[in-house]
Amino acid sequence: MNSPVRKAVFPVAGLGTRFLPATKAVPKELLPVVDRPLIQYAVEEAVAAGVDTMVFVVSPGKESILDHFRRDEGLESKLEQGGKDALLARVRAILPEGVRAEVAIQDQPLGLGHAVLCAREHVPADEHFAVILPDDMVLDPGRGALAQLVAVHEATGGGVIGLEAIDPSLTASYGIAEVEETPSGHRRITSLVEKPAPEEAPSNLGIVGRYVLDGRIFDTLATIGEGAGGEIQLTDGIARFMGDHPVYACPLEGVRYDCGSRLGMLKANIDYALEVDSLRDELLAHLGHVLGRTG
Ligand code: UTP
Repeated sequence: MNSPVRKAVFPVAGLGTRFLPATKAVPKELLPVVDRPLIQYAVEEAVAAGVDTMVFVVSPGKESILDHFRRDEGLESKLEQGGKDALLARVRAILPEGVRAEVAIQDQPLGLGHAVLCAREHVPADEHFAVILPDDMVLDPGRGALAQLVAVHEATGGGVIGLEAIDPSLTASYGIAEVEETPSGHRRITSLVEKPAPEEAPSNLGIVGRYVLDGRIFDTLATIGEGAGGEIQLTDGIARFMGDHPVYACPLEGVRYDCGSRLGMLKANIDYALEVDSLRDELLAHLGHVLGRTG
């Protein structure tokens, strides 16, 4: 089934405990990297991959994520009156023309697989759709991480998962994939396991939070029970589904940051800021001072 990828699901209903107390009142996905919240980078990546409908899976207390994508005419007219045209353009571009935002609710944080299942009413069963975890950021000077997956989907017609070679001692923090090369030169995933101990991991290929999935997977997600950590795991759902429907690997180009962790978030802020012309020189000078102090 080779269908265009028009919809992206953003599961943003987790508790964000690793960022407490910052995430007590502010959802993790609204924490900024430089001057944009994580969720905005994720939406921009989806738009760059051709997606036109964003489905946010939120928990009942996290509606402020939606506020970020709502038009604020009061703010826009103040910026306009103040002649702040560049800022005005940036605010207006948060949700580009022709892009829709939809909402699904996950009442309880039962796991990533359950969060994706909550988007079922928004995704036709005969389409492929994307899933993006906004706290996994990929700085890719090219087309963006999701566009890389969409290219693999277009070439194979199958599902696709973003992968990265990880430190083998860290397998218990990732979904891990085993991969074989097909005669046509694509990499088909042959097994998936969520958070295996290093001695049980089939490889060191860790899942990064980017997926293109077949809309028929919802039937499977509805039937799997709890997996690792007592949560309904997306990895388990895909592992069961891919017996009949091939899923391919997309080793991601670019640098990945785990912005669900404090260190990953700090690294992302530095590296994304270094990409901004007006910040680069002063930031480098500051980093030079810091290294001088510590070195
Ligand atoms: P994480 O594993 O990072 O969990 O979820 P978390 O709750 O956000 O953060 P910590 O571990 O407590 O610090 C990965 C993604 O899956 C979403 C999260 O919002 C995040 O985008 N998620 C997770 C849900 O939407 N619902 C869930 O039940 C679990």
